Amino acid sequence: MDERAGGCSIGEYLISSRSPAEYRAMFALDDSDLTGKVLDCPGGGASFTAEANELGADATAVDPLYRRNAAVIAQYALDEVARGSDWMAKNRDRYRWDFYGDLEGHQRMRRASAEKFATDILAHPERYRAGALPRLPFPDGTFDLVLSSHLLFTYADRLDYRFHIDALRELARVARGNVRVFPLVDQAGERRDDLLPPLLVELESLGLSPQVRTVDYEFQHGADAMLVLDASHRRSDGTSHP
Ligand SMILES: C[S@@+](CC[C@H](N)C(=O)[O-])C[C@H]1O[C@@H](n2cnc3c(N)ncnc32)[C@H](O)[C@@H]1O
Repeated sequence: MDERAGGCSIGEYLISSRSPAEYRAMFALDDSDLTGKVLDCPGGGASFTAEANELGADATAVDPLYRRNAAVIAQYALDEVARGSDWMAKNRDRYRWDFYGDLEGHQRMRRASAEKFATDILAHPERYRAGALPRLPFPDGTFDLVLSSHLLFTYADRLDYRFHIDALRELARVARGNVRVFPLVDQAGERRDDLLPPLLVELESLGLSPQVRTVDYEFQHGADAMLVLDASHRRSDGTSHP
């Protein structure tokens, strides 16, 4: 494992359950964004997909976790809230708490989200597709909006530059609108010079017009920006990677 995270690693990928309120804030979303086909990858235990469908979007979540039985996944997401909260308690100083109030407020929000996710995956298993970046099980240009939170950059201790560029190209391949990625720091809250700057150069050369946009959400100190890719300028045959 890469030591640049300063010994700050949560271990196995956390199956976290961010709430729709967190998604709206970190991706600067409003209701007008939640109308067409939306992809959340990785979906983890987040209740964003449940809420987006309630609002009238056609939202799908993808995660390798969804290979498992829906009842097992639902329980797993609930169990992971405790692991996430233990981590937050031990690393309190790495975060700003104003969005949540305090650790308890954070845990309440995540538990409510995990419960909503659990109900939704049992009622609508078709919304939750098994898959893993850098290969997604969808044709080119399927989604109006593609969201990706807390996999890329976050797990830079185990996912290298090649994985990041392949994953970002794949997210752009399945998009016909834009791709939004948050956060742009690793688990230690560090901006990685070996990732973001060269990625911006390569993504620009691929015609994806990458932009780093500040958002009105900051939980890890200094993590107040998302990466936006524009996948709307596809080649006319619509079949190849940008
Ligand atoms: C920290 S969670 C983020 C979940 C959700 N986006 C959220 O913010 O609450 C990270 C997720 O990445 C998933 N994951 C791990 N490797 C992956 C891959 N290669 N492709 C897609 N998802 C992956 C894990 O299963 C886990 O659910």
